[in-house]
Amino acid sequence: MDTVLSGIRSTGNLHLGNYFGALRNFIRMQDENRCFFFIADIHSLTTHPNPKYLHENVKNVLVDYLAAGIDPERSVIYIQSDVPETIELYLYLNMHAYLGELAKTTSFKEKARKQPENVNAGLLTYPTLMAADILIHNADKVPVGKDQEQHLEMTRKFARRFNNFYGVEYFKEPVAYNFGEELIKIPGLDGSGKMGKSEGNAIYLADSPKEIEKKVKRALTDSGPTEPNSVKPDYIENLFTIMRAVSTPDVVQHYENKWNSCEIRYGDMKKQLAGDIIKVTSPIRERILEIEKDDAYLRKVTKEGAEKARESASKTITAVRKIVGFKKF
Ligand code: TRP
Repeated sequence: MDTVLSGIRSTGNLHLGNYFGALRNFIRMQDENRCFFFIADIHSLTTHPNPKYLHENVKNVLVDYLAAGIDPERSVIYIQSDVPETIELYLYLNMHAYLGELAKTTSFKEKARKQPENVNAGLLTYPTLMAADILIHNADKVPVGKDQEQHLEMTRKFARRFNNFYGVEYFKEPVAYNFGEELIKIPGLDGSGKMGKSEGNAIYLADSPKEIEKKVKRALTDSGPTEPNSVKPDYIENLFTIMRAVSTPDVVQHYENKWNSCEIRYGDMKKQLAGDIIKVTSPIRERILEIEKDDAYLRKVTKEGAEKARESASKTITAVRKIVGFKKF
């Protein structure tokens, strides 16, 4: 059985794009693998978040994941800052991570450009902390998006370098977990390419049916096609893409036909679309509303998750300390 590690950004609520992009596949992943899901709250410190909101953000992500079907009975779900072994490994890896290679990482250059007043060492060593997250459990596979591929590549490099330097075969070189066909990209409702929190065009799993109806109603449309079988403009194609994810094939075909014969009524289509989105999100939303007020449950899940994660992590740290050369008197 493979060990899979999934790192989750602690940046607030999850939307439909997160659900179809990753979350739905995470839920399936749990059947065939030993999965670790952790919330990367230490990583988020690189941008100096207000302490007042840090916990709230972690909680939102945790609740959404649990509500969507990440199962603490089958998988280990934990908060990064609950596992100090990760930080110790990060320190050892940093001794073999070089300024030149860290400074030329794409994500670092981008962040340094975006926040020139805060180009801190944590930002520079973001990839070594991520490598520590992965290597602390000696994970075989890591589900990552395009923007994280370089970090995974660096993780492999750090693992290889550690093994070579100390003359051991301790760390595995983790590969990307590939969802293949299962990966659905959900576009925004504003005609833009991608649904995202920062794009302000997202439908959240926690949105009420009313909010969802309102958001779908506002989606950009036009006066409809005038030529049969015309090519759809991006903002219309986007609505169809979302519909393909949430509606049944016959519903999609119905609106495809209406489009092709120039009889499409966007009002009808939006009503259908909103209804089908609500069908997907409302069971999750109901669980979100239950779980978020169940402090005892959240305490239990995070405590047990931390215990299991630390059990795995401390094995690695004990071995690494020995490899590095530390010895008891
Ligand atoms: N950097 C990842 C992101 O921004 C989050 C992350 C932190 C992560 N540590 C990880 C992902 C380890 C996978 C493995 O999405």
